[in-house]
Amino acid sequence: MDKLLIDGGKALSGEVAMSGAKNAALPILCASLLTAEPVHFTNVPHLNDISTMLRLLGDMGVGVTMEGVDGLVLNGGGLNNPVASYEMVKTMRASILVLGPLVARGGEARVSLPGGCAIGARPVDQHIKGLQAMGAEVKVEQGYVHAKASRLKGARICTDMVTVTGTENLMMAACLAEGETIIENAAREPEVVDLANCLISMGARISGAGTDVIRIQGVDKLHGATHAIMPDRIETGTYLCAAAITGGDVRLLKTSAAYLDTVVDKLMDAGCEITVERDAIRLQAPKRLKAVSLRTAPYPAFPTDMQAQFMAINCVADGVATIRETIFENRFMHVNELMRLGANIQIEGNNAIVRGVERLEGATVMATDLRASASLVIAGLVAEGETLIDRIYHLDRGYERIEEKLARLGASVRRVR
Ligand code: EPZ
Repeated sequence: MDKLLIDGGKALSGEVAMSGAKNAALPILCASLLTAEPVHFTNVPHLNDISTMLRLLGDMGVGVTMEGVDGLVLNGGGLNNPVASYEMVKTMRASILVLGPLVARGGEARVSLPGGCAIGARPVDQHIKGLQAMGAEVKVEQGYVHAKASRLKGARICTDMVTVTGTENLMMAACLAEGETIIENAAREPEVVDLANCLISMGARISGAGTDVIRIQGVDKLHGATHAIMPDRIETGTYLCAAAITGGDVRLLKTSAAYLDTVVDKLMDAGCEITVERDAIRLQAPKRLKAVSLRTAPYPAFPTDMQAQFMAINCVADGVATIRETIFENRFMHVNELMRLGANIQIEGNNAIVRGVERLEGATVMATDLRASASLVIAGLVAEGETLIDRIYHLDRGYERIEEKLARLGASVRRVR
C-alpha cells in the first residue's frame, strides 16, 4: 500500500495548475447515458474515482475513448446493461449517479446501494423518493435499488434536506421525463450548475440551476455535445490551505476564486493576502495564521469538503477556533490523527475546539477518508521532521498527482511503496 513521506518545514512557493473538478466530472460523465450520441469532455481530472466511473459506464455498454491529454468521448449508444454491481459501487458511492439517467433513458436500473462510508451513513432515500414522485416503481431488495418506468413523468419534488447528488440524479432523470419537473430545496453547488450547463448543451431545457428551485422541461431525446469540466474548487482550497500553513506564497492556475468566497474570506480572516485573477488565484501567507472558527453548511456557505483542511491550519494558528460540522455525522476522523502530530483538539458533539500550538511533530498517521487525508498532508507540511501518511489511496481518489504538484511548490514529499 502506498504511503506519502513528507519532510515538514518548507514554505510553499511558485505556481501550479489545478485540475478539473471531481464532483462535477462524476455526474457529468453519467449524463452520457442520457443520449445515444457521443459526448466530448475536456479538463477531465485523472483520478481513481474517474477511472472507476469509466469502468462502470463501460460495463454498461457506454463506449469510452480517450481524446488528447485530458479529454474523453463517451458514447451512450451502446448502452445494454443497466446494472451497477456491488463490487463497483462499494468502491465509489458516487456510482449512485447512474440511477436517474438509466431509468430516464432505458426505463430500468439495478444499482447497488452505496452503503455507508467513513464520514457517515450516506443514505439515498431522497434519490429514491424523487424518482417515485416521477412515477418510477422502485424496490430495494438484496442490497440493490431496482427502478422501472415506461416513461418518467414530470413532478414537483421537495427534498427533505439539501442533497448534492440527489439534486443531480433527479435533474438528469427529469431531462427525459414527460412534462415539467420542479426540484425545490435543490442543492446550489457550482458542480450542480456545471452539470446543468452540460445537459443544456445536450438539448435539455433547465432553468434555475444554482438556486434552490430548478425547473426542467422534459424532452424526447438529448444529443451529443462538448463540455469542459469546471475547475476543482476543493482542490484549489486545499492548496491554498497548504500555502497558508507553511507561510508560503503560491499562485494557482487554471482555477477561479468565483466559487470559493467563504473559503477565501476565512483565509483572509486568518491573515492571508489573496489576489484574484480571471483564471488564477494567489495567496501570500503571514508568518503565523490567526485562528478562525467556521461552520459548514450547503453552498454558498462554508463547504464541508474544506472542513478538515481548515482544521489542520487551525492546529498551529494563534488562538482558539471552533469548527462545527453540520452536514455529516462523522466527519472528524482526522482529529485523532492530527493529535498524533501534537494538535490540541477537543470534540464536543459536532463541534471541534482547536487550540493552536506553536509546532507540530512529524509522526506516522493514517488516512481515513479523502479530505481527512488532505488535512494530514497539510499538517505534515508544517510538522517538524518526517510525517508518514498511510492508506493514501484515499488521497488518490480526489487529488491528481498530489506529490508532484506539492513538490513543484517546493515541498519535500515523496510516495513510498
Ligand atoms: C456530495 O456528496 C459530494 N460528493 C461530497 O463530496 C460532499 O461532501 C457532499 O456532496 C456535501 O457537499 C459528490 O458530489 C460526488 P449529500 P453527497 O447528498 O451528494 C444526507 C468529497 O469529499 N442525505 O449532499 O453524497 C447525507 O447523509 C465528497 O469529494 C440523506 O439523508 O452528499 C448528508 O448528511 C465527500 N438522504 C446530507 O444529506 C439522501 O438521499 C448531505 O449529503 C441524500 C443525502
